Parts: sequence; structure tokens; C-alpha cells
Amino acid sequence: MVTTEGVVLAGGYATRLRPTSLSVSKHLVPLANKPVIGWVLEQLAAAGVKRIHIVVGPHSREQIEEYVGDGSRFGVSAEYAVQERPLGIAHALSLLEGRVEGSFVVYLGDNLVHGGVARYARRFEEAGADAMVLLKEVEDPTRFGVAVFNGGGRLAGFVEKPKKPPSRYALVGLYFFTPAVFDYIKRLRPSWRGEYEITDALDLMIKDGRRVEYAVHEGWWIDVGKKDDVLEANALLLDEHARRDIRGVVENSKVEGRVVVEEGAVVRNSVVRGPAVIGRGAVVEDSFVGPYTSVGDGCVVRRSAVEHSVLMEGCVVEGVARLEESIIGRKARVAARDGRAVRLHISDYSVVEI
Ligand code: DAU
Repeated sequence: MVTTEGVVLAGGYATRLRPTSLSVSKHLVPLANKPVIGWVLEQLAAAGVKRIHIVVGPHSREQIEEYVGDGSRFGVSAEYAVQERPLGIAHALSLLEGRVEGSFVVYLGDNLVHGGVARYARRFEEAGADAMVLLKEVEDPTRFGVAVFNGGGRLAGFVEKPKKPPSRYALVGLYFFTPAVFDYIKRLRPSWRGEYEITDALDLMIKDGRRVEYAVHEGWWIDVGKKDDVLEANALLLDEHARRDIRGVVENSKVEGRVVVEEGAVVRNSVVRGPAVIGRGAVVEDSFVGPYTSVGDGCVVRRSAVEHSVLMEGCVVEGVARLEESIIGRKARVAARDGRAVRLHISDYSVVEI
């Protein structure tokens, strides 16, 4: 059966990404100037998924609906379900019982896999299984759902965030299901962290003799949880997608390598070294913008050097000798004052390293 329905989960609080996530849903944090959920929807559309149910939280609903709309600009039809409280991935999925019609793919809206969804969708269709998951060998499996294998090397179950991991194979946030999964979600009890875990539903399916297949994912895999994940994901996506494309104005500057200068952007008396992207209407003046940097639409970078950073829409960086590994929020302003007293106006959970 061809999988043409998808579910994207974009609820939850994302406390590990504060302060950014206080005002921006983590699913909308820009990676190479495109929100992670935008990359997810593009991958699903490319795999032939036509109808996508997006689970949002009450606080993220408006922002996500504003960005995704009816889905037409991604070539899909988008519908929304509101999860009033983040009671877990399985709980979020339970909202869709009766709404999804056949087999479906679930993508966690803060995950992204290298190479997209299409080949895994084909594999699921060919396997004719009840579910299929992606596994990835990782250094520290304790942060994830983890696969259990029996003595013969067969998949025997799953555990969520185990203190003593039974293997190094973590569950990636991309799953394929038939509607059979809803019967198992109904049987769940909250886990030690108070959530209805999809990992537990998969474990029950296996123990009940259902066919749960897996594929081992070889390329990169992004799980945008914390600041460093955002910077790493931004770098990976720039590396993969940035092509040299100069649409804006470049004056008396050196633009080296794979750099996108969007329409209406101005680069003046500066050096920009790719992979990097300078958003629409941004101004870069008397500055160095180094590799793995995304400068959002309408940002201003003056007399500064910026590297390995994400500057979100409309922020200003002025006179900063070296800004690196930083995330600057929308319309925020960072200005150096040459050895004089530091003046701050920062909000809850902000981090300042001087
Ligand atoms: O990233 C992969 C991991 O994702 C898996 O290895 C784990 O087995 C799985 O449980 C999940 O773990 P996390 O603890 O990282 O999940 P997180 O709370 O970050 O939520 C994942 C996505 O699902 C995120 O986009 C928010 C959304 N979500 C989460 C919860 C708890 C909802 O929409 N509703 C919820 O109630």
C-alpha cells in the first residue's frame, strides 16, 4: 500500500532550547534560513505524501499555522490537531485515530534525516509490516529510545531513555505505521517521565507478535534539542544545500565559495566565506561572515566577525570583534562598547558569555 498520509509532531515545550523556544516554537527555528519543519514537510512531499496532519500545542499553534498554512506551498494539504498538554508522542498520535485512513508516516517535527523519506517509505510498502522504524548507532543511547535485540540478533523490543542501554541503536524520529498502532496506544500507561511513549507502543507490538521492521539509517540525523544541535544542524544543512547564488548586491567585497546572497541583501566592504547564507534585505558591512553562518532576513551585521552562528530575522550585530557559536533571536541587538561597562537588556534564560 502506498503511504500518502503523514503526521508531523510539533507540540511540546522545548525547555532545553530556552531562551529561543520561549518566543519561537523550536520547529520554526531557522536552519540555513528555513525552519526545521519546512525541511520536514519538503522531505515528506518529495516522498509522495499528500495529506499531512500536524499536531501542535496551544502555544505553538498560531506560529506554525501561520508558516505552514494549508500546506499548498509545500505541495501538500495540511490539517491541524491541537494537543492541549504534551502528554507524549503516543498521546499526540492518539488524536489522529479515525482521521488517518491507511498506513502513515510519522515525522517528529524537530528531527531530520539525511537523504529524505522516500526510500524508507518504499521499503515499508514492500515489507508489508505493521510498523517500521529507523535505527541509528549512536555514542550515547541514554538520550533516546533504544532497540533491544535477542541472542539471535532479532529485534526483541524497545526501551525509552534507558540508564543502561541494551544496544547502541537509537530510535530516529521517523516511523511508519498501519492503523493497528492505535490499539497498542490505548493500552499504554504513562512512563516514569509521565508521558505516553511511542517506544512503549512499539515494544507492545513486538511482544504481541506484530511485524515491526527496522532500517539502519547511515547518513546524518538531526534532533534539534539544544543550542548546540541547532548550530550543528545549521552547519550540516548549509554544507548540503548552499549553492553559490548571488541575487543581492555585492560591493567591494570578497564572497568566497558556496554563498547565497538573497534578493535585496547588500554585502559591502566585507568578506563572506561559505557555506553561508545572507537572507533577504540583510546588510553586511565592514564585516567578516565566516563559514556555517546563516544571516536571517533583514539582519544587520556591521564592523563584526561572525562565524558558525544562526542570526534570526531582523537582528543587529555591531562592532563585535568575534561572535561565534551563537544563536541570536529575532530583532535582538548585540553591540560592543570597546572596554566600557557592559550594558544588558536580556530576557529570561538568556546566556551571555563575555
Ligand atoms: O529524537 C528521537 C527521539 O525522540 C526518540 O529516540 C525517542 O524514542 C522519542 O521518545 C523522542 O524523544 P525526545 O525526548 O527527544 O522527544 P521530544 O520530547 O523532544 O519530542 C519529540 C517531538 O514530538 C517534538 O517535535 C515535540 C513533539 N511532541 C512531543 C511530546 C512529548 C509532541 O508533539 N507532543 C508531546 O506530547
